[in-house]
Amino acid sequence: MIVTTAQLFKVAYGRFAIGAYNINNLEQCVGLFRGNLQSKAPFIIQISKGARKYTDKRFLEAIIRAADQIFPETIFAVHLDHGDEQSCMDCIKSGFYSSVMIDASHEPFEKNIEITKRVADAAHAKGLSVEAELGQLGGVEEDIVGSVKLTNPAQAVEFVERSKCDSLAVAIGTSHGAFKFKAEPGKKLGLHFEVVEKIRKLLPGFPMVLHGSSSVPKSEVERINAAGGKLKDASGVPEEDLAKAGKMGVCKVNIDTDGRLVWTRVHREFFRDFPEKFDLRDIGIPFMEEYAKMIAGKNQMLGSAGHLDEVRASLGKN
Ligand code: G3H
Ligand code: 13P
Ligand code: ZN
Repeated sequence: MIVTTAQLFKVAYGRFAIGAYNINNLEQCVGLFRGNLQSKAPFIIQISKGARKYTDKRFLEAIIRAADQIFPETIFAVHLDHGDEQSCMDCIKSGFYSSVMIDASHEPFEKNIEITKRVADAAHAKGLSVEAELGQLGGVEEDIVGSVKLTNPAQAVEFVERSKCDSLAVAIGTSHGAFKFKAEPGKKLGLHFEVVEKIRKLLPGFPMVLHGSSSVPKSEVERINAAGGKLKDASGVPEEDLAKAGKMGVCKVNIDTDGRLVWTRVHREFFRDFPEKFDLRDIGIPFMEEYAKMIAGKNQMLGSAGHLDEVRASLGKN
């Protein structure tokens, strides 16, 4: 069942985070639904601009609609990840999405507010909620390359009040991709929880979002490299940090890279071990299983596992 993102945040706030997983194709979608059902977790499906362009957005939307019918017990929200104003407006009009992210964090403060407010006004008129971003994560994000700029908590208050966004992606030291923590002189490695704590105090009850939250498990990287990959010095966010963030008002934790690593490991090992095979279904089957396993494990770690019935019971009460 597709629900609003706000409905999920209401149950999760201060207790656990909801996993927000990016998908691009059928196999990921099937693995995603199976993994969430196995772990009895509510979840968020994220579609990036790149995912919408990969084949055609209508394919992805149709796959998700089909999954909703095939897995009727699931409860999830559909979210546009890292939208610009145009893609946000397109998703708002489509009537399919629960929420959109307007990412104008690379713009100056006033311009970020201005753009976010326009999107929020349009979204609210249609019952969608809006995630915005203040600060900069660093790393690579579609066509934007940048360095880390932590979210300023006092600015966050003004930003939320004026932009009317419903949740805020905060920059606390994470970055996108598989190479998150590069040692640099004078730079503190790890997450800046003090920023989350300050925002929680200044904006009690207001949901925060953590991007760049893949853990890039060492074992996964080692298996990929042992099967011919070249992911040197890959690193991610320790899982215990994500669980901690979930108890501090971070309601949504974005994970994409870890899913890509599962895909890479399964495919590399398969072709190494079965060089004579060429039926794409022979590899799709283990991929869907492994992807589901990864999702279920993430939900356990985030604390969203086991909350499906509670969310279902809460739905009529909003
Ligand atoms: O934050 C970005 C997500 O990992 C989506 O990646 O834009 O390459 O689909 P993408
Ligand atoms: P990762 O690259 O750490 O998986 O982050 C994904 C993300 O933030 C999607 O918006
Ligand atoms: Zn992101």
